[in-house]
Amino acid sequence: MTLLIEARGVASTSAFSLEGRVIIVTGASSGIGAATAKLCAELGARLVLNGRDADRLDVVVESLAGDGHIRIVGDLSLGETREALIEAVPFYDGLASCAGIAALVPLRMANEAHLQKMLSVNYLAPISLTQRLLYKKRLRNDASLVFVTALSARAAPQAAAGYAASKAALEAASRTLALEQAKFRIRSNCIAPGYVETPMLQGLGAQAGMEDKINLTPLGRLDPTDVASSICFLLSSASRWITRATLTVDGGLGIPMRV
Ligand SMILES: NC(=O)c1ccc[n+]([C@@H]2O[C@H](COP(=O)([O-])OP(=O)(O)OC[C@H]3O[C@@H](n4cnc5c(N)ncnc54)[C@H](OP(=O)(O)O)[C@@H]3O)[C@@H](O)[C@H]2O)c1
Repeated sequence: MTLLIEARGVASTSAFSLEGRVIIVTGASSGIGAATAKLCAELGARLVLNGRDADRLDVVVESLAGDGHIRIVGDLSLGETREALIEAVPFYDGLASCAGIAALVPLRMANEAHLQKMLSVNYLAPISLTQRLLYKKRLRNDASLVFVTALSARAAPQAAAGYAASKAALEAASRTLALEQAKFRIRSNCIAPGYVETPMLQGLGAQAGMEDKINLTPLGRLDPTDVASSICFLLSSASRWITRATLTVDGGLGIPMRV
């Protein structure tokens, strides 16, 4: 089915297409980022992909539809990695910021190094990358920025002070960014997933009580492709009137019901 919408007075054949767009995907070597890269490429985008693990990133790059994709291996908390991403192509139409880390640590045990690390990777890295893209005027008008946050940013579950706060900071920055850039029709939105079946969740799953919490999800645990399709929606012109939003993709977990 082809959806027709009016895009600035010009009919677009497919509002969900990413044909001709150049998009950064961070966290592309695993989980949600890898699924997002695959779908973006299938929808026609040319990608600049980042991850730290070169071998896993290569496997993803080799699986992508289309050609001309570029891979930049490196730690996003380092300025040199962010600059390499910015310089990889002249202009970008979008950012899918999927890279992130998680750890469950009760606040009593959350030392400053832990809190700094959460903020550094989950908040400072994506926002510093975006700041440099804007400062260097590398985002085209109409570009779409999508930051993967987490249901935890609002739900703030136990042992998540570092993680939840870093994602809440990212959501706040995205909202202010959306206001500042609206004059260029650059949009900024967040995707807040619930429990998604990825290596990150498998890592956390070893901790006591995790399985019970995941099982509270009405639709069951999500597949990374479920999150990827929402990210691609926000990257596409199908969402052109959506900005400053956080789209919750949690299988119904976020609104508790006790009967
Ligand atoms: N899975 C869930 O249940 C869930 C729920 C809510 C939100 N999220 C969020 O969704 C996003 C993706 O998570 P995921 O579940 O797909 O996790 P994942 O499979 O562990 O993937 C995380 C990705 O982030 C990259 N990354 C981590 N630290 C990095 C750094 N310093 N520099 C560059 N890249 C870095 C990893 O790269 P390498 O592996 O190459 O190092 C990997 O590609 C994260 O932001 C996470 O917070 C996940």
